[in-house]
Amino acid sequence: MNCSRRLGCLFLLLANSRSISADDAIPFSPGFDIAKVAALAQSLPSRSWEFGTAAEALLELYNPELSVFGENPFPVAASSPSSVKALAYVAEKITIGYTGLSNGNGATGDPASLGVSAIMLGKTDDKFSDAADVQFAYLVDDAPRYSNGAISQRAAKPVLWADFMYMAPPFMAFYAAESGNMTLLQETYKQCGLYRDVLQSKGQGLWKHIVGPEAADPGHWSTGNGWAAAGMARVLATILRAPAAQGAGWRDGAVSDLSGWIREILDAAMDAPLDGGLLRNYIDDTTSAHGFGEIAGSALLASVAYRMAALQPGAFGAAYIEWADGIRAELGTGGHVKASGVVSPAVNPLNWQDTKKDTSGSPEGQAMVVLMYAAWRDCVLAGTCQRKQPTQTTEAELAAQTSNASRSRCPIRKSQRRAQRAFRRAQHARRMRHS
Ligand SMILES: *[C@@H]1O[C@H](CO)[C@@H](O)[C@H](O)[C@H]1NC(C)=O
Ligand SMILES: *[C@@H]1O[C@H](CO)[C@@H](O)[C@H](O)[C@H]1NC(C)=O
Repeated sequence: MNCSRRLGCLFLLLANSRSISADDAIPFSPGFDIAKVAALAQSLPSRSWEFGTAAEALLELYNPELSVFGENPFPVAASSPSSVKALAYVAEKITIGYTGLSNGNGATGDPASLGVSAIMLGKTDDKFSDAADVQFAYLVDDAPRYSNGAISQRAAKPVLWADFMYMAPPFMAFYAAESGNMTLLQETYKQCGLYRDVLQSKGQGLWKHIVGPEAADPGHWSTGNGWAAAGMARVLATILRAPAAQGAGWRDGAVSDLSGWIREILDAAMDAPLDGGLLRNYIDDTTSAHGFGEIAGSALLASVAYRMAALQPGAFGAAYIEWADGIRAELGTGGHVKASGVVSPAVNPLNWQDTKKDTSGSPEGQAMVVLMYAAWRDCVLAGTCQRKQPTQTTEAELAAQTSNASRSRCPIRKSQRRAQRAFRRAQHARRMRHS
């Protein structure tokens, strides 16, 4: 194993072990109680895309080695749902029937958000892989197409939503990588480009929310730009990890295009004026009540900056990490996370035009904060991101650390000791497997 950094090695070893405990999943604090945020990310959802997004967040938090951001996600392992929190969670939420995995209420892409989980569950239970096949065939063969060939987010009319990008292409790419169908993997990359051709505001980098004959929204919705960039980051990671894509003639161009398309969005977001340290609900709207600083799009785009810094460090350097650290620090120090774990203010996810700030807990917003945490943690463990900025330690934390000094000489090292114990356990398990 080529490991130059110790923590990087630790992560690789953990990635090779079966699963990691909650303690190991949360080795260091982001400045707020991420376990409580994650608990609400599980309990609040009630709709197909919310379940799918929560499942991805739980997978990245508790089983990063199984997600496309892990080192070797393919071929997909047969994991018992009882040992993978995301799978135990989502097995109860998938409702086989409709277009495959759930009732999309007129949306083609939303049930597809459950597809990655369904493929994983399908390794031990055929009914899930069969339903994933049905969902896949519906998307590719039956869903309407926009005039340029992009798969519609709506079942009744060809309408493109930025949201689609997080729901369907990551599933299509995962399906393609697992089945070794490289035509389909390349087609998924092309779908991302077809979406960008229609939704990107020319010369601006940012994507419109919805284009088409129904519910059009030309505004640069922060969450929508997050869906697009984060969905493309998952497609990119899938292409990088898919064994059958290694050496494919189109691979380098796809990696370069997807990285560029993600960077256009991040660059525009990073240039935009923040409101109270957060991205605005409509990123460049500084004049109306729709432009308030908001946690969901902020957290999802910060997660993308961390993921890209780890995946493509040459193209996503210190400025991207610093920007994401700023969002993370604001969540930790700005009073945004209540004792209950609710993160606010969020946009009303069912009415993006709502000028009233949601403070009761956005199902998707909670998951986006978990995605940000998992991406930051992995970036730190890879040795690319920093664990702690000096500004993140509040006076109260410092006082608490000082007053506890007699009990624990170095409280800040607690998580490190825990990580070292996990490291020894993983080493032991490895020896047992090889003996
Ligand atoms: C790959 O996927 C495409 C699109 O679904 C399909 O038409 C084609 O038959 C598949 N190829 C193989 C070898 O399975
Ligand atoms: C200090 O000790 C108290 C009481 O045991 C504990 O609740 C608190 O989390 C500790 N603080 C730190 C920073 O370790």
